[in-house]
Amino acid sequence: MSKRILLGVSGGIAAYKACELVRAFKKRGDEVRVVMSAGAQEFVQPLTMQVLSENPVGTETFDATYESEIGHIDLARWPDVVLLAPATANLIARMAHGMADDLLTTVLLATDAPVVVAPAMNTQMWRHPRVQANLEVLEQTPRHTVVDPDEGELACKEVGPGRLPDPEVLLQAVDGAASEQILRGKKVLVTAGPTREFIDPARFISNPSSGKMGHCIARAAVEMGAEVILVRGPVALDIPYGVQTVEVTTARNMYRAVMDRAEDMDYVVKVAAVADWRPAEPSEEKTKKSQMAESLQLLRNPDILDELGDRFGPESGERGPILIGFSAESKDLVARARQKLLHKGAHLMVANRIGGPSSAFGADRSSIHIVTETEAREYPADTKLNLARALWREVVDYVPDVS
Ligand code: C5P
Repeated sequence: MSKRILLGVSGGIAAYKACELVRAFKKRGDEVRVVMSAGAQEFVQPLTMQVLSENPVGTETFDATYESEIGHIDLARWPDVVLLAPATANLIARMAHGMADDLLTTVLLATDAPVVVAPAMNTQMWRHPRVQANLEVLEQTPRHTVVDPDEGELACKEVGPGRLPDPEVLLQAVDGAASEQILRGKKVLVTAGPTREFIDPARFISNPSSGKMGHCIARAAVEMGAEVILVRGPVALDIPYGVQTVEVTTARNMYRAVMDRAEDMDYVVKVAAVADWRPAEPSEEKTKKSQMAESLQLLRNPDILDELGDRFGPESGERGPILIGFSAESKDLVARARQKLLHKGAHLMVANRIGGPSSAFGADRSSIHIVTETEAREYPADTKLNLARALWREVVDYVPDVS
């Protein structure tokens, strides 16, 4: 769903990065209006922002032309989300004190849209107690979220916190601010990716899972207000904004990581493609070809979902997390997913297809069926992120039968 983003830019060197941000929002179909402080206009020309956003840029409170096109009150009513990037120490201070001394701060007092504040400044300034106290005021202000700056080398050559995060992180923070908080106060554990079962240091058994669906499910849960732990096998994906990760390698690592935490969770979503077997006798040294046996003896790995089902599933009589499993099959998707639901003791199962052009493994798009004991609902091909959002909407409506 495209959004209306009001981007407030204040006068730090990171203002040039706001140009990339506008492009990133436009690229995914959002509408953008930009308001610049006087300082911001020293770094970037309003014309640049006008061309990129394809909208007039607000610069002055009492600009007669701008006021006649879109007045500051209409501008305050327009956005779904306000993003302040970069937010300088000065802007943060003016906001913390409720000032309305330019167009941007005036709009900020007049809007009831959520406000995402992305500070960027010199490390010493960031650490200054006054700046931190002002940020605290913003954190306590309803509908305001502060995205911490990244650490790294700054334009002033100092190294430390103060860099404006990448556009992708700010896009995710904006999505979270715009989302209905249907998972607020909930704890979610998601597993994602493959596991690796080493034969020796140079060889392992694994599968083609990319971890994308699991990461989208974790990201969507954060957007909707949940506290999220992502237990992930080896994947080449960025950690979604706001997610806490536990990195694991083997099925048995994953088993421990999940079992140690499951009891405290409201939802456990087992998206990971866990390797079903592991070598019976893994070698610490790389085995020479001349010493290799003709065949490899394997042991079954623990089935994590099955064990969760025994402890917390619908038949357990225990109050535990709602258990959501994934079932990847090449045919009879719904029937096989339901079989697994009953066999493993999950509350819900998500069926998706492997093989073919939109194979669940590795693709950015997929289609799913959400399967319960009695129902199956199909969600046609969409991005994995949209499917993840749809899944959470369905899951929060699910209430287990307590007999
Ligand atoms: O039996 P199958 O592997 O198709 O079931 C898939 C579901 O079971 C997924 O939710 C997966 O995370 C989970 N699973 C597990 N432990 C295993 C194998 C699968 O938790 N050893």
